[in-house]
Amino acid sequence: MTIQQFQDHILDWHKENRRPMPWRNTRDPYKILVSEIMLHQTQVARVVPKYKEFLRAFPTLKTLAESENKKLLEVWKGLGYWRRAKYLKETAATIMRNHAGKFPKELQALETLPGLGPYTARALASFAWNSKEPFVDTNIRRVYLHFFFPGKNKVTDAEILEIARKAVWKKNPREWHYALFDYGALVLKDKSINKRSRTYAKQSPFKGSFRSFRTRVVRMLIQEPEGRASKEKVSNFLLEILRKEEAEYAPEEILQSLEKDGLLKKKGAFYSL
Ligand code: ADE
Repeated sequence: MTIQQFQDHILDWHKENRRPMPWRNTRDPYKILVSEIMLHQTQVARVVPKYKEFLRAFPTLKTLAESENKKLLEVWKGLGYWRRAKYLKETAATIMRNHAGKFPKELQALETLPGLGPYTARALASFAWNSKEPFVDTNIRRVYLHFFFPGKNKVTDAEILEIARKAVWKKNPREWHYALFDYGALVLKDKSINKRSRTYAKQSPFKGSFRSFRTRVVRMLIQEPEGRASKEKVSNFLLEILRKEEAEYAPEEILQSLEKDGLLKKKGAFYSL
């Protein structure tokens, strides 16, 4: 299949199969960033209500930059991966401070913001400003593997991007990437295609994982007045759930990792969010 045929095939299919999503109706980089960070590890159907709730709570970059951690995590609850919420707030604060409240448009500047990597920077630039620079996520990767690397193993993202660069629909890169997402999600349902990618990394099951205990600590503190509890109470809580689930982690290990990521602060005899 030539690149032109591939492009025609995807765009023809998309005419009838475009999925409406609230963040596809905006060009506001702030709203788009919120959606992309949420979509990073969470399914579209679960993101839609959270996205709306988040923007009601923090309608602008400024409100997010000045938000309280407790409220932020309350709104984020249910999405998991708390670090993403913290990064989002840090990014908002950085843009307020270093860029006079306006998103930089250069990829290099975007990539240095907390929590933004090559993918998020390019997705944002595409959806907000129609940048032609291609990017791959798990759905888009599947599309390229299927059409351009049949039967081939250990395909790198660099190889995929080389083709993706030629394939971008220059007339409307934004729509082009929506089409790739939708095709990957709705047509290529066989997720095992991605095993042929070198980037493929199996996600560990959440239950009983290190991450699940981190989440429970944050959740517990959200319930406490002012997001704060004594060290003793937090340690006991952790010991109890670790024992109940026969997990082998040390409570200190979990608490330290939360501290390191800025999700938890030690203050005297207390832990707080
Ligand atoms: N539309 C815009 N961003 C998207 C994403 N990350 N996944 C699926 N559809 C999207």
